[in-house]
Amino acid sequence: MLDTRRPQGPESPPPSPPFRRAGGSRRRLRWLLLAGAALFILAQAVPYGRSHSNPKTDVEPRWANPQTRELAARACFDCHSNLTTWPWYSNVAPVSWLVQRDVDGGRAALDFSQWTQPQDTSAGDIIEAISSGSMPPWFFTLMHGNARLSAAEKQQLIAGLAATFRRSPPLGGGGGG
Ligand code: HEC
Repeated sequence: MLDTRRPQGPESPPPSPPFRRAGGSRRRLRWLLLAGAALFILAQAVPYGRSHSNPKTDVEPRWANPQTRELAARACFDCHSNLTTWPWYSNVAPVSWLVQRDVDGGRAALDFSQWTQPQDTSAGDIIEAISSGSMPPWFFTLMHGNARLSAAEKQQLIAGLAATFRRSPPLGGGGGG
């Protein structure tokens, strides 16, 4: 049974139009830019990736020929040796963090300046990495046109590195493949 005698209170007022302020989105944008700038400045204080001195160790393989070293220097040395050249933007966070991660990871996998140390990478891994195009990484060649290798240069580097590994295997193996 419906109660039709529900007390009829005063109608609630119609909802007011959504609150709007002229320039509200512009203010929001300015706030975002300020917050971004503050974050950017704070990021520069993070110690990671700030010290860019290269380790002194430098014992390279006995390269099969000078061209092989030249090609490796162009395309690989920035991440796989202690002869890294650090461009100005490698000192600016957050790019500096990415660069540091690449160089640390690169040297850990393969370091042409530490040939008396065991390498985590075989000649086969290197051939695979170059021919598949995964090395040098695409983003690196965007900033370093010089690291872009032609098909012929890739073949030359592959053959040269294979010969270098045969001639001068890193200590502790890794020369197979
Ligand atoms: C921008 C930095 C950078 C450059 C330049 C670069 N590498 Fe690497 N490379 C890395 C990093 C970082 C790793 C470790 C990646 C991982 O563990 O996933 C790596 C790993 C490798 C590995 C281990 C196997 C693999 O594919 O992960 C090989 C082999 C290799 N690189 C060869 C080369 C060669 C040869 C060149 C030059 C033709 C080269 N890289 C250039 C950063 C670089």
